[in-house]
Amino acid sequence: MSRIVVVSNRVALPQKSGAPAGGLAVAVNAALKDRGGIWFGWSGRIAPDPSDTPQETKHAGVTYAVVDLTNEDYQEYYNGFANRVLWPVLHYRVDLSEFYRSDLSGYIRVNRMFADHLEKIIRPDDILWIHDYHMMPLAKYLRERGHNNRIGFFLHIPMPPADIIQALPQHPDTVGALAYYDLVGFQTEGDRENFARYLETRGGQSTPDGTGCDIGGRRVRLGTFPVGIETGAFARRARHASRTRFVKAFDESLSGRKLIIGVDRLDYSKGIPNRLDAYDQFLRKEPDWHDRVTFVQITPKSRTDVPEYQDMDRSVSHRAGQINGAYSDVSWTPLRYVNRTYSRSALAGFYRRADVALVTPLRDGMNLVAKEFVAAQDPEDPGVLLLSQFAGAASELGTGALIVNPHDTESVAAALRRALEMPLVERRDRHRRMMRVLEEHDINRWAEDFLAALEPDLQPERRDI
Ligand code: G6P
Repeated sequence: MSRIVVVSNRVALPQKSGAPAGGLAVAVNAALKDRGGIWFGWSGRIAPDPSDTPQETKHAGVTYAVVDLTNEDYQEYYNGFANRVLWPVLHYRVDLSEFYRSDLSGYIRVNRMFADHLEKIIRPDDILWIHDYHMMPLAKYLRERGHNNRIGFFLHIPMPPADIIQALPQHPDTVGALAYYDLVGFQTEGDRENFARYLETRGGQSTPDGTGCDIGGRRVRLGTFPVGIETGAFARRARHASRTRFVKAFDESLSGRKLIIGVDRLDYSKGIPNRLDAYDQFLRKEPDWHDRVTFVQITPKSRTDVPEYQDMDRSVSHRAGQINGAYSDVSWTPLRYVNRTYSRSALAGFYRRADVALVTPLRDGMNLVAKEFVAAQDPEDPGVLLLSQFAGAASELGTGALIVNPHDTESVAAALRRALEMPLVERRDRHRRMMRVLEEHDINRWAEDFLAALEPDLQPERRDI
């Protein structure tokens, strides 16, 4: 039987805590733990002279194979090209990108090095599933060395329109190299369409249904696979967490006030400054709500070596301080801005206690916080989700969430009031509609759909081009 070999930059090693788990680690972990397989990627460590052999750990049917990076790799590939060029550009923020040729060389070097390691691991009938923007050219390097395995790629973050991709120096070597996969999966139809248009600008011929493109003598298939969560398990986790001493103590600290919650890595794509502006406007316009509401914004620091993230850190802390300075009273703090990581169980308990979740990214591939918040609710008395129209999740949860434009902070403030005052019948109805989607399209369905699409239509004769 074919093995599944998953490759991603970040690997959720068992029992490892510390780094804030992004959506990728959460999703891949959930998908792999039921199927078993190999998960290959970066160890998260820097070493002066990394070993030529990946360090392996086996846990519950999954073999984790990880390699260290040198400091130069870390600076050029991870901080540099992946997080100062690809991340901002793919999130529509060309203005924040900083391109250096040395970083692109480092990105290519590390991808080739990953291909070297993989060569020693893979067997001819293994199915390779590569994840996210760190690894775009990997299939190209494996193909060049004659590997004809089925190789699929899933992009967890947005794919912007062709005009924006073209702002990326040497894009044919990175985004363009996605054409070497058998299947490329996206979070939304819009992302898939953007990529199909981009391939057309590069001379590709899209199939009439838009789910494939012939380019460079081979066919790459394109699909939409919105990533899900472990809906039932997360709901159980939240029920259990709400009974723990830790979450009860948190609840008591709120003294019966309504709770608004936000949980995001500290990242400019998450729209945290806009969200704080909206909360400021809400407090200014709604004095009746003073002392009756607490906004807990949990924001673990992320990519702290990248200057744009350091800037964000300063400006968000400053803004949070201003809000508390303006509205706090001796016995009420309207905003708790917290730069810590919490366990997934603690978060599940916080979500269940919350009356409103503010999920207002300026751009987001999917946003699993939105989905987990919904799954964590008590169906008899559920909270309300305020969701940005620019999160991938909006295309699935639009029937139940209050969809907002995060740039229109006055409307977000008005929606916040509406959410806090929403009658129980409407809350239940909205929650039910969202749960139906989350139950049907859970994490297993995501992995099944992707892997089923990757396997059957395989045309080996096309793969050796
Ligand atoms: C997003 C990306 C992931 C990434 C995560 C955390 O979810 O899609 O690929 O792992 O952010 O970022 P980090 O740089 O800490 O891995």
